[in-house]
Amino acid sequence: MSNTNKWNADKYKKHADFVSKLALPVIELLDPKENEKILDLGCGDGTLAVEIEKCNAQVVAVDLSESMVAKAQEKGIQAFVMSATELPFKNEFDAVFSNAVLHWIKDADTAIKKIYRSLKPKGRFIAEFGGYGNIKSLTDAMQQVFNEHKEFGVFHNPWFFPKDTEYKQLLEDNGFSVEYIELIPRPTKIDDISNWLDIFANGIISHLTQEQQSLFKQEVREILKPKIYSDKDGWVADYVRLRLKAYKTV
Ligand code: BEZ
Repeated sequence: MSNTNKWNADKYKKHADFVSKLALPVIELLDPKENEKILDLGCGDGTLAVEIEKCNAQVVAVDLSESMVAKAQEKGIQAFVMSATELPFKNEFDAVFSNAVLHWIKDADTAIKKIYRSLKPKGRFIAEFGGYGNIKSLTDAMQQVFNEHKEFGVFHNPWFFPKDTEYKQLLEDNGFSVEYIELIPRPTKIDDISNWLDIFANGIISHLTQEQQSLFKQEVREILKPKIYSDKDGWVADYVRLRLKAYKTV
């Protein structure tokens, strides 16, 4: 759901399928019921929408990436290219569900307003995404490489990793009643930091030449290897999840 990151659905499936595998507790929190209408916000390749439909709920799925939406459609999901800040829906959904997406949306206030408007009265909003402290070792390493290469320009961090208190306030300011919100540290195995950077951080270095991009990835890898790699566990990224359940109050 970023404006600058380019999503490669095949690489994502090969190297980042942990994202949907780790989301099953969020689907449990959603607890989809038969005949409910559910919006999957940032559906990616539709893997979780398929899981939700197994409960006989009707899913409408949206994502900013055309290639991801195409993959979701191939799975039979009703999916559309759409931004979280431009949702057109009004009082339509029993629930809005979102996994691993909202940290891409810096304008959280607008997204929350659109989510609120999309829900039916008393509808629920269930989400999990990167929270405060998420991938700090990775962003520090990226920042360090930019600092050491002035020719790379300024490091623009594309992510929003809020504290639970901050996001709760934003939800309440927009009319939600928050039943549950928690920051959950969740160290996460990734297959290689180079693949992670290719999939998730390509927007950060898209202005650089191919050689500069390779140098960036190589140096980030060198900084991180002694910190987050071990022969026993491989690469483990310092993920922190912000998980929440909130209700539209009217
Ligand atoms: C995350 O799921 O926390 C995440 C994934 C890619 C980039 C940034 C954060």
